[in-house]
Amino acid sequence: MESKQADIYVFSGSGNTFLLAETVAGIFNDNNCQAALYPLGRFFAAGPERVLGVAFPVACMATYPFIIKFLRGLPPGGGREVFHIGSMAANSFGMQEPIRKLLVNKGYRPIGSRILKMPSNYGKNLNPTSLSNQNIIKEAAVQAANFAGQLLTGKSRWEQTFAPWSGFFHNLAGGEKPWRLFKKIFPLKINQRYCIKCGFCRNICPAASISTDKDGGFYIADTCVSCQHCAAFCPQQAIGIDGESGKAYKVVEYSHLAETLRQ
Ligand SMILES: Cc1cc2nc3c(=O)[nH]c(=O)nc-3n(C[C@H](O)[C@H](O)[C@H](O)COP(=O)(O)O)c2cc1C
Ligand code: SF4
Ligand code: SF4
Repeated sequence: MESKQADIYVFSGSGNTFLLAETVAGIFNDNNCQAALYPLGRFFAAGPERVLGVAFPVACMATYPFIIKFLRGLPPGGGREVFHIGSMAANSFGMQEPIRKLLVNKGYRPIGSRILKMPSNYGKNLNPTSLSNQNIIKEAAVQAANFAGQLLTGKSRWEQTFAPWSGFFHNLAGGEKPWRLFKKIFPLKINQRYCIKCGFCRNICPAASISTDKDGGFYIADTCVSCQHCAAFCPQQAIGIDGESGKAYKVVEYSHLAETLRQ
């Protein structure tokens, strides 16, 4: 990596990807490469001398539409170095290749991509403190630190899994259809009995999908892309599949996430 400064844009539904991005930034900072973490959404223009990092999870076979929109909306790279780190629970469906192509077409210079297995954050009865999940998290942290070292020493590569259908999945995930189907199978709802109307979910929803009705009750609109962010960080655990309340999976406290990602 030629750059000595890094801007890393992070989206993380329940904290898995955030933990990995934070590990990478920590290794950079320990090795005289100044790293800053930003929430993935708004882009802050910066010079080509700063490496661009993008960190986001695999979801619904590729990633969320708002992430693809963010990447498509990046300004021309002008040869700026770019790396990617992400997390998934089982299969990346070859998403790295279409992402690489997209960035190359925008004029960025890809220097490395790594997707690491983290615990699943979807379903019921998920427990981030179980021994098996703790082991997965520890192993991913080691791998993320290795990846950061490889980026710094120029030994990283843009990892690829063999998936001839990856372009198809990538295009599919960027559209509406898979999310409509996903929402039908896993309808995320707010349980009005537990909701204290704090508005927290509305503030953090990256798809602006939480509104209030005329009585001030909070509800999830159809534009929701099931990213899990609101469910993971609702202080009342009022958001769940079909409104079923339960402890949602999250691996960091919201205050830490919000303090670390510079606005
Ligand atoms: C809506 C949704 C779809 C997901 N789809 C996939 C998938 O296609 N493949 C996979 O391996 N994991 C999938 N997962 C699991 C997450 O990618 C995994 O838990 C990831 O580490 C979450 O990272 P985050 O906490 O940074 O959002 C999905 C999770 C959600 C919420
Ligand atoms: S974060 Fe939870 S408690 Fe707060 S408004 Fe949203 S659903 Fe209600
Ligand atoms: S409503 Fe919740 S799950 Fe849906 S997009 Fe917003 S934060 Fe994500």
